[in-house]
Amino acid sequence: MEKYIMSLDQGTTSSRAILFDKRGNIAAIAQEEFPQYYPKPGWVEHDAQEIWYSQRSVAEKAIAAAGVGPWQIEAIGITNQRETSIVWDKETGEPVYHAIVWQCRRTAPVIDGLDPEFCQYIKDTTGLVPDPYFSATKIQWILNHVEGARARALEGKLLFGTVDTWLIWKLTGGKVFVTDYTNASRTMLFDIHKLCWDEKILDYFDIPASMLAQVKPSSCVYGETLAEYFGAPIKIAGAAGDQQAALFGQCCFEPGSVKNTYGTGCFLLMNTGKTPVKSHHGLVTTIGASCSDSVEYALEGSVFVAGACIQWLRDELMMIESSAISEAVAREVEDTGGVYIVPAFTGLGAPYWDSHARGMAVGMTRGTGRGHFVRAALESIAYQTYDVLKAMEKDTGSCLKSLKVDGGAAANSLLMQFQADILNVHVQKPACLETTALGAAYLAGLAVGYWTDKEEIKANWKLARSFEPSMDRDKAEKKLKGWERAVRCALV
Ligand code: G3P
Repeated sequence: MEKYIMSLDQGTTSSRAILFDKRGNIAAIAQEEFPQYYPKPGWVEHDAQEIWYSQRSVAEKAIAAAGVGPWQIEAIGITNQRETSIVWDKETGEPVYHAIVWQCRRTAPVIDGLDPEFCQYIKDTTGLVPDPYFSATKIQWILNHVEGARARALEGKLLFGTVDTWLIWKLTGGKVFVTDYTNASRTMLFDIHKLCWDEKILDYFDIPASMLAQVKPSSCVYGETLAEYFGAPIKIAGAAGDQQAALFGQCCFEPGSVKNTYGTGCFLLMNTGKTPVKSHHGLVTTIGASCSDSVEYALEGSVFVAGACIQWLRDELMMIESSAISEAVAREVEDTGGVYIVPAFTGLGAPYWDSHARGMAVGMTRGTGRGHFVRAALESIAYQTYDVLKAMEKDTGSCLKSLKVDGGAAANSLLMQFQADILNVHVQKPACLETTALGAAYLAGLAVGYWTDKEEIKANWKLARSFEPSMDRDKAEKKLKGWERAVRCALV
């Protein structure tokens, strides 16, 4: 009887569960969107219970869709939106506040107030650029603003977790309180060199160490699910932040290999091996998914808004009926007619790190229409990728020849061609675009011996299509100049 690995992919806008077979093929998939809360401009929240219910529900649906029994699932791998912060009561399991989402800007004033010396300490210790994006100031905000929370935290009654920790805690009925190195490295509380929570940063943000989970490798058996959830206990054997999981799923195992994931945001990661490369050009140093306590590092360019810009055209401007038709609408015109959109809805991440930047559309004329606007939104994703890729080249002194892509928008051929043109590199799209979930499956499968080693996994990676650069360089440079000018308008 065939066995599978189930990935739980808890993203920013939806929860998904995917069953993979040994060849990395999808046997079943289920997905549910869940509500987003925007209580104030720049604030973004989720209900942690809604995250849990939707995740559990899609897992049940995927198992049912595959028509398999729980004994056919060798292990579960979890991958998740990173940085999003949940604080809950250890006894009741009730979150004390909504999950504060990675995109949320509410703590920008705290970051603005950090003294330069401490900022440098944070950079040196955590590898991150101090920003409201990361978990530290979100946890501090909850402890400072939820009545009684700080006192309860000091009494050891509250726990903090990123989404991986929350899901593992729920799945094991509150028995296992862990996170993995990749997720820990996104909290801005973790020393990525010594591999421990940093006391000085915890003291500064007034966060009791008792709230924090035990940190483990991304590939190891953490525990098992309660039998009542899926009919029998299933081992939970993998966990990684979604971008690190995608790097693993793309088989970027060698130092120097790079992938770009086009999701809600856009995240370019380069494996740098055992060496944590320090960025001097606005990138962050982060921990890659590991199978042991001897971790590997990655250099990351985090773009906050990519696919979310297309959703904005759909949901707020009602310009398109679905994200899927964005390509067809953009193809109605030859180019953007000089329009640039800078989707700095939640500030700008790498390489600019401006929490106060806001969205901008420039270059419109009386003739600007829907096609130009949609095309400009798609192109903004490619331009932002260009900015982080150039920063990466400067930091590493290497010139990239090809880029592996994945995520929802990698299915958009117009965008992928434009990406190849603007970057002047080969853009390689694999047959399986569910690389994030696949990476989490690989991590879990390696821990339980479903796959033997990385070599076996590598054989699963298949190229679906390569996009070759074909735009005249002068034309590309002219477009990039226009983008630079537009970004300058958005920066504060
Ligand atoms: O750092 C945020 C990132 O993990 C979110 O990923 O796929 O939900 O855009 P995604």
